[in-house]
Amino acid sequence: MKRTTFLLVFGVVLGLTQAQLETGAEETGGEEEHVELFTTPTTKMGAATSDFGYNLFRALASRDSTANIFLSPISVSAVLTQLSMGGSERAQRQLFRALRYHTLQDPQLHNTLRDLLASVRTAGKGLSTAARIYLSRRLRLKQDFFTLVEQQYGVRPKPLQGGTKDLKEINDWVSQETGGKVLRLLTKALPRSPGVNTVSATYFKGKWATRFGQSGMTENFQIDGGAPVRVPMMQQDNYPVKMGIDSDLSCTIAQIQMQDDVSMFVFLPDDVTSNMTLLEETLTAEFVQDLSMTLLPAQVSLTLPVLRLSYSTDLLPLLSDIGLSEWLSDTDLEKISAQPAKLTSVHHKVVMETAPEGNQYPGVTTSPSNLSYRVDRPFLYLIRDEASGALLFIGRVLNPKALTM
Ligand SMILES: *[C@@H]1O[C@H](CO)[C@@H](O)[C@H](O)[C@H]1NC(C)=O
Ligand SMILES: *[C@@H]1O[C@H](CO)[C@@H](O)[C@H](O)[C@H]1NC(C)=O
Repeated sequence: MKRTTFLLVFGVVLGLTQAQLETGAEETGGEEEHVELFTTPTTKMGAATSDFGYNLFRALASRDSTANIFLSPISVSAVLTQLSMGGSERAQRQLFRALRYHTLQDPQLHNTLRDLLASVRTAGKGLSTAARIYLSRRLRLKQDFFTLVEQQYGVRPKPLQGGTKDLKEINDWVSQETGGKVLRLLTKALPRSPGVNTVSATYFKGKWATRFGQSGMTENFQIDGGAPVRVPMMQQDNYPVKMGIDSDLSCTIAQIQMQDDVSMFVFLPDDVTSNMTLLEETLTAEFVQDLSMTLLPAQVSLTLPVLRLSYSTDLLPLLSDIGLSEWLSDTDLEKISAQPAKLTSVHHKVVMETAPEGNQYPGVTTSPSNLSYRVDRPFLYLIRDEASGALLFIGRVLNPKALTM
């Protein structure tokens, strides 16, 4: 769904004074200034991986409409792209379409993705990812594929012995790649059938640009159709954010700056609702980019739940929802094995933490603004790399009490 108009009724609804509004209003002006982000190969790739991510998120969100859900799409893009290297021309075309690469016309696609992955994994951004293919030995594997993937992405697909030894090996590798943060990716051994398994994992440590003064106080969080739950929150007055209201989506959006050109977008529905279908349907790379251009700087009293979460799922059933059912019935992974190689699992695990620390202190103003942005009811958020526009992480929090670490 394409939406380029973004309705701002900021001043009216938030009760901002004219003076407070002016700075922002001048910037966005009367005629819409359309700043193109997606112009270079890397940013186009950033948009493609994001759009794939939003599609995957929608598929997950609609299958499980009453649960907290989280994804780090860029690591799923990474592992499915590795897999595409083993496919026939037809298989590759089908995978590329689902991964949204068909719009790129980038002859250097693999190099572009490799560069994008390297740029979002620089230490300051707080993101570590792991993505690898595991193949049953019973497939009579073609060695060239292993070399091809390793040369391009620096990670060698791995043949499986079958059984619990694999389980330990895979979990140890993921843990090592994520600095010991993503543990026990697999809870039981992979099936012994002659198949292909992919593993992707992400650890994200959110580092705010501006620190939160208060953290850990327990406060009420409203939930849809139930009594409020008590959860740890962090709070800071005069916190610099960018903000706006989307009256079509009935939500207030805040963009909170993180370190190293990363930011968090919070979509907070006006009412306590767990039905975010409309909002979920709207998300695209372009929508979020246009949105970021219309948000206005504001100083708010910001209250956020302290996020510490771990989430794990097998994405295999979702792939048919994003246009891959035909490919799944005949994977055509001819460069991996001459035998039919079924995809048997697409394990994905994410861990995310936010801490109150930040390099900067909030500004001191003589007249504290009365604006408050209080995330104390179900919300949706995403973490975006600003330089490339790539979606690093996306989550829907319906009940923070149910988050586990
Ligand atoms: C959620 O909202 C959409 C419209 O925004 C509606 O079509 C749908 O039926 C709702 N789902 C539930 C479970 O209420
Ligand atoms: C801020 O809140 C105080 C107390 O609630 C009120 O007296 C004051 O007028 C408000 N200021 C603005 C700018 O709305």
